Amino acid sequence: MYPLRRNRRLRTNEAIRSLVRETIITPNDFLVPLFIVEGKGVKEEIASMPNYFRFSLDLLENEVKELWSLGLKSVLLFVKVPDNLKDNKGTEALNPNGLMQRAIKTIKNVCPDMLVMTDVALDPYSVYGHDGIIEQGIIANDATVEVLAKMSISHAQAGANFVAPSDMMDGRILTIREALETEGFIDTGIMSYSAKYASAFYGPFRDALDSAPVDMVSIPKDKKTYQMDYANRIEAIRETQMDIDEGADIVMVKPGLCYLDIVRDLKNVVDVPIAVYQVSGEYAMLKAAAEKGWLDHDAVMMEQITAIKRAGADIIASYFAKDVVKLLNQ
Ligand code: PBG
Repeated sequence: MYPLRRNRRLRTNEAIRSLVRETIITPNDFLVPLFIVEGKGVKEEIASMPNYFRFSLDLLENEVKELWSLGLKSVLLFVKVPDNLKDNKGTEALNPNGLMQRAIKTIKNVCPDMLVMTDVALDPYSVYGHDGIIEQGIIANDATVEVLAKMSISHAQAGANFVAPSDMMDGRILTIREALETEGFIDTGIMSYSAKYASAFYGPFRDALDSAPVDMVSIPKDKKTYQMDYANRIEAIRETQMDIDEGADIVMVKPGLCYLDIVRDLKNVVDVPIAVYQVSGEYAMLKAAAEKGWLDHDAVMMEQITAIKRAGADIIASYFAKDVVKLLNQ
């Protein structure tokens, strides 16, 4: 008598394991988030994101060249906006000579083939740290969408390949798509943060951009009226399907690890590429545990990234992108 199947035969050594491995990570999987600040010679570490930095435009050039040399060919840009340029309406977001617009041009200048995606949302520009315009204490959906469309045009004019609306207003994909088409930007893509949850994992990111919602009476304390309730699953399918119908080329689930059931649900029903954003809090957790010597940084990192891809991610936005590729190259 013997077991009908001895599954362990396919695990006997690394050669057979790699022969039958179902999920392979390559540099092509990654979208690299970049934080950009005003100034010269600035490369400042983000306190809650060890070994992750904000760059001024001059040092951004070297960073982008390094990414390219590692085979990392896509970036997702975020800007830290000086306080004196923030208001309720995101006026600075439309400045053709704003930090985002200059960052796009800088990257295209040093690395013309780099795929440049830009964050489209008001929070870095908002005095209140919200993704929308506030009217009478609430986030005004339609007024915000108008600004997001103008912001998208401005990014496209500066040379962005994709705009990535991360705001979760209703109807913004349709309005942005129509605006891009009308202005002749037919090849400018939209990566929609379609299933973005109101998550406590965004904390370090808000430190990075100084963009947390302010603590003021009459200003919503959190983003729960626009970002999704993390208890919901079916809603993610509806949100994502609507964004595809409105014109999204790529959709996204965010955060990553706690939301892999959503990724798989979507993978089974949608026919556009799915991006997963492994967010700042996920990065911070591993860095902190590794610093304490409680987790093996590289091993856990690879396990997490592989799990995200295995769940159905076609694209992974991750602060670990460089670490992963350097490890793969070893
Ligand atoms: C804001 C935005 C956030 C992130 C990306 N775009 C934060 C938020 O919604 O408050 C989070 C990314 C991260 O935590 O890594 N539009």
